[in-house]
Amino acid sequence: MPEFFNFSAGPAVMPVTVLAQAQQEFLNWNGSGFSMLETPFTGDAYKKIHNHVRDNLRLLLNIPDNYHILFMHGGASAQFSLVPLNLLGRAGRADYVETGYWSCKTMREARRYCNVNVAASSCATGFDRMPEAWHLDSSAAYCHITSNETANGVQFFDIPDTGDLPLVADMTSDFLSRPIGVQRYGVIYAGAQKNIGPTGLTIVIVRDDLLGRAHPATPAVFNYKNQAEAGSMLNTPLTFSIYLTGLVLRWITDMGGVVAMAKNSAQRSAQLYQVIDASKGFYQCSVQPAHRSCMNVCFTLANDALTPLFLSLAAEEGLLNLKGHPMAGGIRASIYNAMPNAGVIALISFMQHFADMHWHHV
Ligand SMILES: Cc1ncc(COP(=O)(O)O)c(C=O)c1O
Repeated sequence: MPEFFNFSAGPAVMPVTVLAQAQQEFLNWNGSGFSMLETPFTGDAYKKIHNHVRDNLRLLLNIPDNYHILFMHGGASAQFSLVPLNLLGRAGRADYVETGYWSCKTMREARRYCNVNVAASSCATGFDRMPEAWHLDSSAAYCHITSNETANGVQFFDIPDTGDLPLVADMTSDFLSRPIGVQRYGVIYAGAQKNIGPTGLTIVIVRDDLLGRAHPATPAVFNYKNQAEAGSMLNTPLTFSIYLTGLVLRWITDMGGVVAMAKNSAQRSAQLYQVIDASKGFYQCSVQPAHRSCMNVCFTLANDALTPLFLSLAAEEGLLNLKGHPMAGGIRASIYNAMPNAGVIALISFMQHFADMHWHHV
């Protein structure tokens, strides 16, 4: 049992068994006598791992054969530019759904490449929900959503049908936390540092017919078609990160796959939201109940002056990295797949005790 629990939004908690295995294999990987870090990507030993990780991901998420799985560099933020560069083709417009901090950032970047039509927005209500009425632009190249807003604690559970318009999703903070109907999407991308593991690696899942539209100025290594054809080995892949990802995927499979992950995160987040709602206003979550994230539970204290005390006493109890995103303030408990249940139980107990001790300061 660890002595502390890491509620960081990312880089985030990893399964301890994965870290232990990586440690055990660190100096002598696969009986080679040297480290995985020193293994050439052009050799058969690495290629076997690389393809195995890709195939396991396909199995875990039931990804149809007409989708390519790419391992890319640059984090999810690079995709904010790479999506328009790869998908706009001749279109000068794209739809974006504005739901919080990360989708706003995505849109700011996209405006450098095209006209952005804000197809739907929850800005007017302080990003407390996912917007229902969408107004898609018939001349748009694609429609972009952020499936889970990490900073605001809002998550999509129901996504309107975009018809023939390719749906593009930034799934950075809820990837591998639940099954996805992949065939509903044109492109899915996710930075790895939440539920997958190592920072820097970005997984891109792209439908076959969307390849080949890249702007001629797109750097070759960031061209989806080039990387699909090269099996994500056009340049040196993030070998160690991909190896670690393979260990995480195996851990998820052993734990019951993404269905089990979804069940667990729904239960754990519901328990936390229940403590907030039962606190008679001591804790407050501004997100509408039906749209509350199962991954990032964001809340504030009615008396914000108590927030630093909450954070420092929590840290003393081993409950770490609970500070809310700088834009949102308050508290954020990120409970990704690898957070042990004991961490959530410890946090609930701490929150209840803290509220009992300080309710008279509200
Ligand atoms: C939803 C979402 N998108 C994009 C990013 C940016 O990821 P990166 O730092 O890998 O560029 C983050 C980071 O937290 C995120 O939560």
